[in-house]
Amino acid sequence: LRPEPLKIMISGAPASGKGTQCELIKKKYGLVHISAGDLLRAEVAAGTENGKRAKDYMEKGMLVPDEIVVMMVKERLLKPDAQENGWLLDGYPRSLSQATALEDLGIRPDLFILLDVSEDALIERVVGRRLDPVTGKIYHLKYAPPESEEIAARVTQRFDDTEEKVKLRLQTHHQNVEAVLSVYKDLICKIDGNASKEDVFAKIDGALPSILEQKSDQWQLR
Ligand code: AP5
Repeated sequence: LRPEPLKIMISGAPASGKGTQCELIKKKYGLVHISAGDLLRAEVAAGTENGKRAKDYMEKGMLVPDEIVVMMVKERLLKPDAQENGWLLDGYPRSLSQATALEDLGIRPDLFILLDVSEDALIERVVGRRLDPVTGKIYHLKYAPPESEEIAARVTQRFDDTEEKVKLRLQTHHQNVEAVLSVYKDLICKIDGNASKEDVFAKIDGALPSILEQKSDQWQLR
């Protein structure tokens, strides 16, 4: 027997670095990374009914309706790998109703990370972002360029990564973020995300040992 695994939610405006930090957290702590946006893009790519509906909303920078997103995330969270190794939930919940859906199931994180990045930086990050379709790795033309010519030749851009669309996504974020934060008030760790990805990770990494210790103490007291 061992203490329950770590459960983390990560939130922040579009392109604040959630996916980038998740790659680093996953590598060090072995948590299962569950990204609501990635799950939706997989539905879009597979051409399912849900994917077709979701794409209309994603293209407008709006939240995809709960009846598509909530079940999709719940099912993924309850899979054995996430239950056994712990999870890192990225881009969910994004509204009060999405948070409530998890609260009703008794699903609550140990920590809620909020990445705080200035608006100018967000736009620059979105426009320069590229993705490797082979490995899923996130790049940026200026801040995290592909390691080889071969990767540089195959990277792609997301359909919602234009300056115009990111402004709509930002609006949606601002409309909903306070309601979500109100549910996790006591668990929020706000991190300045304007620094380099290594420096941002160092701050997150610095916050995690005390959470792990607390969990271990609580477990021993049982
Ligand atoms: P989603 O895919 O979640 O998009 P998002 O929230 O807009 O966030 P991003 O994935 O754009 O950015 P990120 O924060 O992960 O940044 P990244 O690490 O890539 O959602 C897309 C859409 O799906 C939504 O608009 C909505 O329609 C729908 N959706 C998703 N979840 C939903 C939900 N729960 N309910 C309803 N609908 C939902 O970094 C960005 C760039 O910056 C990269 O190029 C990276 O290399 C670079 N970078 C990262 N960190 C740094 C750094 N420290 N310094 C310099 N550059 C950096």
